[in-house]
Amino acid sequence: MISALAATRPAALAERIERAPVLDRPVRALSDTVVRALPQGPRTDALHGVPFGQPAHPALVRMPLGCWTSAVLLDLFRGSERASGTLVAVGLAAALPSAATGLADWSALHRHQQRVGIVHAISQAGATTLFGASLLARVTGRHGQGKMLSAGGLAAATVGAYLGGHLALRLGAGASHAEPIGHLAALGWHDLCPLAELPDGHLVRRQLGYLSLLVLRQGDAVHVLSDHCAHLGGPLHQGRVVDIEGITCVSCPWHGSTFRVSDGAVIHGPATARQPAFESRLTDEGLLQVRPAGHTGRRASTTRRQAAW
Ligand code: FES
Repeated sequence: MISALAATRPAALAERIERAPVLDRPVRALSDTVVRALPQGPRTDALHGVPFGQPAHPALVRMPLGCWTSAVLLDLFRGSERASGTLVAVGLAAALPSAATGLADWSALHRHQQRVGIVHAISQAGATTLFGASLLARVTGRHGQGKMLSAGGLAAATVGAYLGGHLALRLGAGASHAEPIGHLAALGWHDLCPLAELPDGHLVRRQLGYLSLLVLRQGDAVHVLSDHCAHLGGPLHQGRVVDIEGITCVSCPWHGSTFRVSDGAVIHGPATARQPAFESRLTDEGLLQVRPAGHTGRRASTTRRQAAW
């Protein structure tokens, strides 16, 4: 009895969707189309939410969901027909940017996330269709039918919202995967490695205890970031050093998020959260020492001239 209940709880159903390879074909086809339509650049960054420092999709979906829920409540408690129709229409208008931001984020997720994401998208597309039909029924005077269609739309949107929550909160889509790193290092300076061991101009990984750090030496300058990409934890040391308008950046090998090496700022998404940076200094013996940035407000990177801190 207990196992039967466990198998039908919503989380178990969402987990079954994660493990459903039957979804891979449509996932691949849609993902390829979205990636082709959204090359890296300011427009795609805006859809991911890079200018806002967090994904834009969760903020935008509140509008259609809020409007549609309010419309159904008005229908239920005999509110004004005009008000509920307006709410349905505003929700429909807000569904388009919500879908665009969601598709942009979804196209840069891993396979299990994409399987859940495509069912989430189908639910929300179904909800949008039902609310569209509801609006049509309302404007043509079929109010009873409009209310029924809205109720169906809200049911579909609720299923979609649950899967969106599973995607974000259980599967970590949209959250920073690097945020804890800066808090896991003990306070104070830590020996990392001799400067002489670092190749010039190449990304390397160095371990600080169990923390993996990305190190880039450029002559006397040394930049240190968390090696786990904020987007989904990709290994940044396997990425590329790129120059963007004179700024040295590292590009993630998994989905191309691009971070300024001096302080981890996001230059291009899909990541929206800053890559944790480490301050560094050199001892008189040429040993590189690091500590999480933010203790003093100084720039994260350092040079030989700063060795006498
Ligand atoms: S893991 Fe996706 S861009 Fe780095």
